[in-house]
Amino acid sequence: MFLKNAWYVAAWDHEITRDLQQITVLGEKICVFRLESGYLVGLGDACPHRKLPLSKGRIKGDHVECGYHGLTFDCAGQCVWAPGTGRIPSEARVHAYPLHEKYGLVWIWMGNPALADASEIFEIENYDQPDWGINRGAAMELDCNCLLMCDNLLDPTHVAWVHEGSFASAATKDTPLRVTKTDSGVILRRWMMDHEPAPFYKKVIGFQGNCDRLQHYEVRYPSHALTRAVFTPAGPCGPDGPRRPLSWTAIIS
Ligand code: FES
Repeated sequence: MFLKNAWYVAAWDHEITRDLQQITVLGEKICVFRLESGYLVGLGDACPHRKLPLSKGRIKGDHVECGYHGLTFDCAGQCVWAPGTGRIPSEARVHAYPLHEKYGLVWIWMGNPALADASEIFEIENYDQPDWGINRGAAMELDCNCLLMCDNLLDPTHVAWVHEGSFASAATKDTPLRVTKTDSGVILRRWMMDHEPAPFYKKVIGFQGNCDRLQHYEVRYPSHALTRAVFTPAGPCGPDGPRRPLSWTAIIS
């Protein structure tokens, strides 16, 4: 069972083009493409006539023509042309999923379209700041229940053992964690004070000597994980000090 009235990540923005293609989200098959204007469209990927996937059809301007008998649909999922008939059946329509682009990702609303509000997609502080960098990693496919991934991403305690030699430092073994429930999920975090940086971070933090480090692991409904890593030189900055340019935020969905 899934939370339906929520925004999910469907794809990278560059993956959805003028070509019809099928994606699967929450077990639902969806035909996605872009209009000539670049506007994103997501339609239930089964023609209401004989269920051929619309993604097997043809794009005609801003319409989709079914590849079986030619029923043609607009971006709202309504049939606008039925060859060989004198009328367009009003029930000939497919579900239209709201889509939205943000952070280089395509987000999809899987529930009642009338409730879709793109302003509810969470904010990433500093994302648009020109003096901050953005890295886009490849997608990693995991053949497991998504809850296991959420479990892993809410578990900073594994770092000391799984990531020994990279992300782990002595402080990741025994510094207590603080757990906070929020309206949108749960956060586990801890500041680890005045310790030698872990080997991976030592190469990139840009200062010498010991550091103060924040581990911030957050999962937000329905399935998004945000991890934050903040490093400051030990002492002068601390938990309330400046956050740039020694901070990282990662979105995992
Ligand atoms: S299956 Fe689509 S028009 Fe017949």
